[in-house]
Amino acid sequence: MSTTPRRRNPRAAIQRLLDCKRERRRIVAMTAYDVAFARILEAAGVDLILVGDSVGMAALGYESTIPVTMDEMIHHARAVRRGAPETLVVLDMPFMSYHVSVEDALVNAGRALKEAGVEAVKAEGGHERTCAAIRAMVAAGIPVMGHIGMIPQSARGVADFPAPGPDAGQADRVRAEAHALEEAGIFSLVLDRLPAPLAAEISGSLAVPTVGIGSGSGCDGQVLVAYDALGLHGGPEPKGLKRFAALHEAALEGVKRFAREVREGTFPGSEHSSAGD
Ligand code: KIV
Repeated sequence: MSTTPRRRNPRAAIQRLLDCKRERRRIVAMTAYDVAFARILEAAGVDLILVGDSVGMAALGYESTIPVTMDEMIHHARAVRRGAPETLVVLDMPFMSYHVSVEDALVNAGRALKEAGVEAVKAEGGHERTCAAIRAMVAAGIPVMGHIGMIPQSARGVADFPAPGPDAGQADRVRAEAHALEEAGIFSLVLDRLPAPLAAEISGSLAVPTVGIGSGSGCDGQVLVAYDALGLHGGPEPKGLKRFAALHEAALEGVKRFAREVREGTFPGSEHSSAGD
């Protein structure tokens, strides 16, 4: 029996996203890295699950997304696929998996579809080299999501992400990248921490849907990193982020209660043993 996760009809899944833009229904997207979160996201009815390379920092404890490998992405995406068999799943291509050559891009994106069973991949940046890789992937039948604005793979670390400022030159570059990516064949575009007016303008000028993170309400949808949005890391709320749950506090409280009850001898009770006490 094959252990390759099942892949949905990518054309239909992507068409549903395009329909959202046409019908002005906002797209809801969130990251997941494992089966438990994938099940929650699918049960909640999100439109798209992104297996982001943020897994490197959020779940693997790396300093940045740079060390994340294609094997790690496939490992996590397979788990997400199993947990969310009915949702559009996108695998984030990690650093250096599509930068060296178009051939690399094809081999690695092909692995994502064949080994992880995802419908699509995401690539960061709008440089001509990235567009060339995207054109080749799209020509090979691999749906690609773009990602511009703050692109973590080009930053050295968490602390010094280059945020595109609002000056005219940078805004023009971002606009040009968005249109070059659309021409290269992307089906959707992440706008990462762009000034809200610029993100709204780009969203209005593209046929493909945009999904914003920290880019205001003028995008066609919103994406959040689940661990951040659900408060799994604890600590103060990061600037510009809304927390929708407090999982860190809930989990900490649960573990403390477990420890207390074990130490007090109140857990396990007779009802918690399969054969009874
Ligand atoms: O890796 C990731 O989680 C992402 C989101 C921030 C869009 O790329």
